[in-house]
Amino acid sequence: MKRILLMFCLFFSVLSFSKNNTPLYLDDSQPMEVRVEDALSRMTLEEKVAMVHAQSKFSSPGVARLGIPENWMTDGPHGIRAEVLWDEWNQAGWTNDSCMAFPALTCLAATWNPEMAALYGKSIGEEARYRNKNVLLGPGVNIYRTPLNGRNFEYMGEDPYLASRMVVPYVQGVQENGVAACVKHYALNNQEEDRHTVNVNVDDRALYEIYLPAFKAAVTEGKAWAIMGAYNRYKGQWACQNEYLLKNILRGEWNFDGVVVSDWGGVNNTKEAIYNGLDMEFGSWTDGLTENKSDAYSQYYLANPFLKLLKSGEVAEEEVNKKVRNILRLAFRTTMNRNRPFGSFATAEHGLAARQIAEEGIVLLKNSAPSNSLKGGMPVLPLNMNTAKKILVVGENAIKAMTIGGGSSSLKVKYEISPLEGIKQKAGKVKVEYARGYAGEKTAEQDGLTATDINDDRSPEELLTEACTMAKDADYVVFIGGLNKHDGQDCEGGDRKELGLPYDQDRVISELAKINKNLVVVIVSGNAVAMPWVNNVPAIVETWYLGSEAGNALAAVLTGEVNPSGKLPFSFPVKLTDIGAHALGDYPGKEQEETYRESIFVGYRWIEKNKIKPLFPFGHGLSYTQFAYGKASASAKSIKENETLTITIPVKNTGKLAGKEVVQLYVGDIKSSLPRPLKELKHFAKMELQPNESKDITFNISATDLKFFDDKKHEWIAEPGKFKIYIGSSSADIRSMVDFELK
Ligand code: BGC
Repeated sequence: MKRILLMFCLFFSVLSFSKNNTPLYLDDSQPMEVRVEDALSRMTLEEKVAMVHAQSKFSSPGVARLGIPENWMTDGPHGIRAEVLWDEWNQAGWTNDSCMAFPALTCLAATWNPEMAALYGKSIGEEARYRNKNVLLGPGVNIYRTPLNGRNFEYMGEDPYLASRMVVPYVQGVQENGVAACVKHYALNNQEEDRHTVNVNVDDRALYEIYLPAFKAAVTEGKAWAIMGAYNRYKGQWACQNEYLLKNILRGEWNFDGVVVSDWGGVNNTKEAIYNGLDMEFGSWTDGLTENKSDAYSQYYLANPFLKLLKSGEVAEEEVNKKVRNILRLAFRTTMNRNRPFGSFATAEHGLAARQIAEEGIVLLKNSAPSNSLKGGMPVLPLNMNTAKKILVVGENAIKAMTIGGGSSSLKVKYEISPLEGIKQKAGKVKVEYARGYAGEKTAEQDGLTATDINDDRSPEELLTEACTMAKDADYVVFIGGLNKHDGQDCEGGDRKELGLPYDQDRVISELAKINKNLVVVIVSGNAVAMPWVNNVPAIVETWYLGSEAGNALAAVLTGEVNPSGKLPFSFPVKLTDIGAHALGDYPGKEQEETYRESIFVGYRWIEKNKIKPLFPFGHGLSYTQFAYGKASASAKSIKENETLTITIPVKNTGKLAGKEVVQLYVGDIKSSLPRPLKELKHFAKMELQPNESKDITFNISATDLKFFDDKKHEWIAEPGKFKIYIGSSSADIRSMVDFELK
């Protein structure tokens, strides 16, 4: 018996060393799976279990004995979170961890430019790498289902196609640095209200057509190495331990071979976490332990309770092996990849990237002539800096730090240019004055990080009177308000309570509109807001949360140095009930159950089905120049399922300035066996045109663009019949249409 064992060991050791005597798992010329099995075979049961749960707020152990490094994760998704203490959320007090804040992902989505997503991913990946993190907790791609969701600012809007096209280059850019992108929160985490408990009931059509495509694209096209489970439940099971989402879809249908990381505290029992496809448990209040209890880690569901089950034989060792294999793959792709670059942090280059993305994401919602000018007068924007003598800036968001707060995406930044600073720097000889107008929050703070105190104790009346008085003789008034990252606004852990602006801003805007006709309203937010004053204000700009370069990017757009080219990644409704989740009264659910009865009719799909006029439609965004669309032509009148149809449309810049336009292509199925939206975004292209320049844009339509998810058959199908192609400048501004048939 002993001899047999010895021979086995010898055979094994020959197998597990490569020619130059390197253990196989350390030899990167070996196939990934050989390395994985070799490393696994060298590990003890205790070492394996240690790897599947956290050891600190953001790290998990490797195997020091074997030279397998720890995993260090970081939020995400729009900057690298400051170092926190080992077992606390508070700052560790480092002096070299102030990052570059990139614009929030809503802004990235609003660029409608995959090249910007690639630049974003590359840049933030470099920052993560420099800080020695091997997993970036982002990007977030939960679909925008309600404008109340406190975390929409971290996501990429309401359309699955747009989010899919933007997430892939982000993931690839991050991972080029040997840092895993951890796409979150998989899945159906579309609100913060009751996020830990709500059970989402959604039909398979909506699941596959609306809520999953961006995750699927990140995994199958972006080849994401990590994914984060969500807090909520689906089919009665928590998402982090959900058999259907993790085993059937993620691993089964998409062949995901990376790690599934739990959201922090998102695991709720050991057996499901063992069997349903989770790999790493992170969090802080697991098992009912208080947040302050020290070393709760050994009590995690996948810590001692798991080890006990393995040791007793109740759970087979193969269950932990499956998880460790995924974690080893993560190590080989990141920490143990000898060729990964070194990264860079808070550099001028990253500042430039942040600014470029911000400038392309800002959306010009409205730009008309002041109401007192004759018909055909010049639009208010861009500000005419040659003739203006005084610009009055009003509003709290002109001076408020927006990088701190909002929850886990809060940042400690190297710098943040406020809108007021940005405008002042660009103003040259033009005098820029400031009036607060309203006072909402004293300061921004989170996890021990506090921004400059902007407390103003004056009464709302005093603040308003001051602003109105100063507005009288100004050539322009630029109101900068919106939401902020405080609880109940754009902030993790809770939703907004209403669509309207907080702190009585509507009143301030309405009063200013009466006094000065050259009023520009700038909304800083990650969500749609109500605008009861929309018809009384000539110009409106949506800037999102723009990060470190906020003020510079905004000033460049306001003054015309940059011609705006952002388009809305979600619809702005007039009122909440213009959105399915609210019209049907399903949000936020009852007794922890929420049914998405609007099904696939999310965002513009609902708006168009119900013939609602939105405040601003999906895909909307103006420019300082104009684009004329010619007539679209098709390469054929009909195609077969394996053929492609080429659509060509000429677009010309007919204005006086160079500018960028996003040409959007939507497809509508004229008749189908299952209900379908009037039309759905299937392609888009962003291109730059000089004045008078014209370009032909071509799109190739294949059967994939015509398919819907047949829930009975559980497959994507394209039904023969007539289809309509809509091409335009927004979902509601269609310039040309083409009919064709699928044979
Ligand atoms: C959030 C995640 C985040 C994690 C770590 C959770 O509360 O939902 O998005 O990555 O905390 O900070």
